[in-house]
Amino acid sequence: MKTLDDLLGEGVSGRRVLVRADLNVPFDKNEPGRISDDGRIRAVLPTLIALRDAGARVIVCSHLGRPKGAPDPKYTLAPVATRLGELLGVPAVFASDTVGPSATESAAALADGQVLLLENLRFNPGETSKDDAERGAFADELAALAEYYVDDAFGAVHRKHASVYDVPARLPRYAGGLVIKEVEVLRRVSESPEQPYVVVLGGSKVSDKLAVIQALLPKVDKLLVGGGMCFTFLKAQGHEVGKSLLEEDMISTCADLLAQADGRIVLPVDVVAATAFAADADHVTVAASQIPADRLGLDIGPESVVLFADAIGSAKTVFWNGPMGVFELAPFAAGTRGVAEAITKIDGFSVVGGGDSAAAVRTLGIDESAFGHISTGGGASLEYLEGKTLPGLAALES
Ligand code: 3PG
Ligand code: MG
Repeated sequence: MKTLDDLLGEGVSGRRVLVRADLNVPFDKNEPGRISDDGRIRAVLPTLIALRDAGARVIVCSHLGRPKGAPDPKYTLAPVATRLGELLGVPAVFASDTVGPSATESAAALADGQVLLLENLRFNPGETSKDDAERGAFADELAALAEYYVDDAFGAVHRKHASVYDVPARLPRYAGGLVIKEVEVLRRVSESPEQPYVVVLGGSKVSDKLAVIQALLPKVDKLLVGGGMCFTFLKAQGHEVGKSLLEEDMISTCADLLAQADGRIVLPVDVVAATAFAADADHVTVAASQIPADRLGLDIGPESVVLFADAIGSAKTVFWNGPMGVFELAPFAAGTRGVAEAITKIDGFSVVGGGDSAAAVRTLGIDESAFGHISTGGGASLEYLEGKTLPGLAALES
């Protein structure tokens, strides 16, 4: 796999370089256009700055959210262009389309060292199409904007999309520094994790995590389960979970996993149970086996935090993906905070995998530098750990 350093070595002054970034950042729910966590923008900056400083004409492309293949103002990258300019110290040029007249004219007009951001890739049906020809036609147009392609969108390497999979077949292709770093870390935790190895999983659905649980179970000393997904496991243990999130069709799978894990899957012993999914809802801490029928669990409780922190404390390697509760609402943030803080204290190597957990770390104001690595890819890091071939990485290698 050729890298950004190889490209810089070849010399890029005056050359147009298309950089696929993952600028799919979260926005403040109460303030449209206000980015609530710019971590993904900052993560790709070193690549953009290196190219800019080498005199390249930098054309950045990304998706944002999941628009349906047509322009949708709700998903414009315009606020991201503004933030990118602030971080670069000079305004980024913004094209109001991806491969249309605005993009082609802006790309042609770029000066050496200038940075252009194209509008959301997913405003074009070809980006995510399952049809190779449709994706290919869009990839042709994207590739025509530049002479070189750099993929630094680690968070999207698991997507077989035009900008990730098809463009690299059309241009000299290079992996950016972020992609290289992420792969190096994930390889380390999946091939040779120092023991004891503790994995912490949260988030809402067991079904999303099933493949990674199956892949990791043979390798871990303990698998700690919190978040919405813990209720399906609790139900599989025979407990009633009230109005908590439950995946009925996964209960027997969870029972099988618990049997197979032989005590290595650790569930919360208490939960914060609320009358409604709201910050001002009445809430009490109850035993995980005593969730009232009219309440739903929105966080793990304090005893669970102690239990989880204890397991984390003795680990040499920790991988964490998924919040322990609804951390965006203050009354239900303590579980995620407690687990995150325990991870920062280990005498070993910790990896925070993914969008939500990475955002939680920053939203809760926890020192980012206390973690071994904070991944920019949620789905991508999970699929890597599942052992899947990731289309974006395969395209860079071939
Ligand atoms: C993410 O946020 O997980 C990545 O940006 C990929 O987005 P997607 O799940 O919409 O493909
Ligand atoms: Mg995702």
